[in-house]
Amino acid sequence: PGPVMATDVVVVGSGPAGASAALLLATLGVDHVMITKYRWTANTPRAHITNQRSMEVFRDLGIEDQVLAEATEHALVGDTVFCTSISGEEIGRIHTWGTRPDREADYRLASPCLTVDIPQTYLEPILVKNAAQRGTQTRFSTEYLSHTQDADGVTVTVLDRLTGRTSSIRAKYLIGADGARSKVADDIGLPFEGAMDIAGSMNITFKADIGRYVAHRPSVLYWVVQPGSNVGGIGAGLVRMVRPWNEWLIVWGYDINEEPPQVDEAAAVEIVRNLLGMPDLDVEITGTSLWGNNEMYATRLHNGRVFCAGDAVHRHPPSNGLGSNTSVQDAYNLVWKLAAVLKGQAGPALLDTYSDERAPVAERIVKRANKSSREFVDIFKALGLLDATTEAGMAAAIEERKANTPEGAAKRAALMKAMDLKNYEFNAHGVELGQFYASSAVHSDGSTRPVPARDPELYHEMSTVPGSHLPHAWVGDSRQKKALMDLAPYDRWTLITGIAGEAWEGAAEKVGQELGVPLATVVIGPGREVNDLYYDWAKLREVEESGVLLVRPDKHIAWRSTSLPDDPEGRLREALTAVLGRG
Ligand code: FDA
Repeated sequence: PGPVMATDVVVVGSGPAGASAALLLATLGVDHVMITKYRWTANTPRAHITNQRSMEVFRDLGIEDQVLAEATEHALVGDTVFCTSISGEEIGRIHTWGTRPDREADYRLASPCLTVDIPQTYLEPILVKNAAQRGTQTRFSTEYLSHTQDADGVTVTVLDRLTGRTSSIRAKYLIGADGARSKVADDIGLPFEGAMDIAGSMNITFKADIGRYVAHRPSVLYWVVQPGSNVGGIGAGLVRMVRPWNEWLIVWGYDINEEPPQVDEAAAVEIVRNLLGMPDLDVEITGTSLWGNNEMYATRLHNGRVFCAGDAVHRHPPSNGLGSNTSVQDAYNLVWKLAAVLKGQAGPALLDTYSDERAPVAERIVKRANKSSREFVDIFKALGLLDATTEAGMAAAIEERKANTPEGAAKRAALMKAMDLKNYEFNAHGVELGQFYASSAVHSDGSTRPVPARDPELYHEMSTVPGSHLPHAWVGDSRQKKALMDLAPYDRWTLITGIAGEAWEGAAEKVGQELGVPLATVVIGPGREVNDLYYDWAKLREVEESGVLLVRPDKHIAWRSTSLPDDPEGRLREALTAVLGRG
């Protein structure tokens, strides 16, 4: 078919995974083409919670300010309400996304960035714009049809949806970031666990200014417990802020075993009015769609020269807000490896570590999100709603929590427990940040991960054991403050040491040159590039002042040495050669 163009990488999809991959490839100067089926990016708000790790990726890419400018700020995201309707009774509230003062400390100590809310309709254009400015060739209205791979590369057949013509792109690698119905993942026969379409959900987007009901308890999420709200869906009825406080998205469930419901304008208006508890509200419906809840993850993410990322390999409900975040973070793991192999800095074995490192993350988040969605049942149980069959019965059961009776007291206690459980959905800091990699791209120093002192799903514990993410500390000098991550940018490897470890500088220069790998040393201490302003870093680094951390482009620790060995150059060469797959 048709003419052939050549490039190094073809990216299929311009969602959070594909657009991030393109922006990262462009930033590293890798020649690539991003194709996407439709004429523009996401046309509905979809994912929105953008967690600290994703914000760190954007910070590393130099687009954090652009994202913050379009996002709803951290201070407005966290007063999550459970109620019978927006104008009805409150059942409880929970501080979410690290906004409770004690949790906010955990979040602030772990990252220079905070969780914000930015719908996909705002995020994707930022990613695509910056990617195109930095060198991405974008082809919209271009559909991936098929590919073949051989020893040297991949030939991708695409359809130009405007002309109906097919053509080929010849590349060294293909990234399938084509979403939950990924054809690329199908075509390479990735192994999956779990099932698709286990429950039915509908999205209704609408405009209505309801600020006076919500601005005093500002949140992204208002959960509604009403008749029908435990059928299908994502745990309960959801009224989600898109823009404060006049643009909204409702997620409502339906029974996936029945005929899909027809959500016309009248049906949509009725659902909106019910969940808001405002029977006469003037509301503008801007869109409706049906979608299936999935519980499915791939156990291997690549086959030969073809790599899948994002929903293509992890498919789950929006609970915990992990969908687009994990997609961005997949790309962050994959792209520096592709670049290193394409530039001759690493052997092809490095690429296998993408699956080794990210497949366990896919499994963890798919299971966590589905568990969180199911755990809403505890709220229904606590209120005694599972046996209530009529609207009146449901109202009476909810009312009982006010009674000065043993039953009322039991209900209040059960409700408190059920609300506490929701921290595993809304403050699961360990799930959000605690990604640890075990693969050949990590060179063990013989140490093992510390046993967590607190619940590892709720709390993130920083460590420098190889495989961990670089801990966060503020460093700098009397004039400026920098996050430690700012000293280890995506386009290089970084050695971090103290004044007593200055000999690592010479070692790094030699080994970097010899291997043709960009490798810089940062010495932290008074009178050096940066100082340990608060003495926090000395307490976090887990190595002596003369020791060293070898930080990968994606901020995971590849290797560490507790102190300065007799032969720092030899030790560094051994570690870097191993992690680059050049052994
Ligand atoms: P994503 O699906 O975003 O992107 C896939 C890309 O591939 C698109 O650009 C598409 O055009 C392209 N593509 C697909 N097939 C192609 C082909 N053959 N050729 C070329 N291009 C192709 N999450 C959440 O946290 N909260 C929410 O409320 C929602 N709501 C929601 C609603 C709907 C309708 C959907 C579809 C999804 C959600 N999600 C969600 C999930 C969330 O949007 C999801 O986790 C991320 O978008 C995943 O990002 P990806 O880039 O992996 O895929």
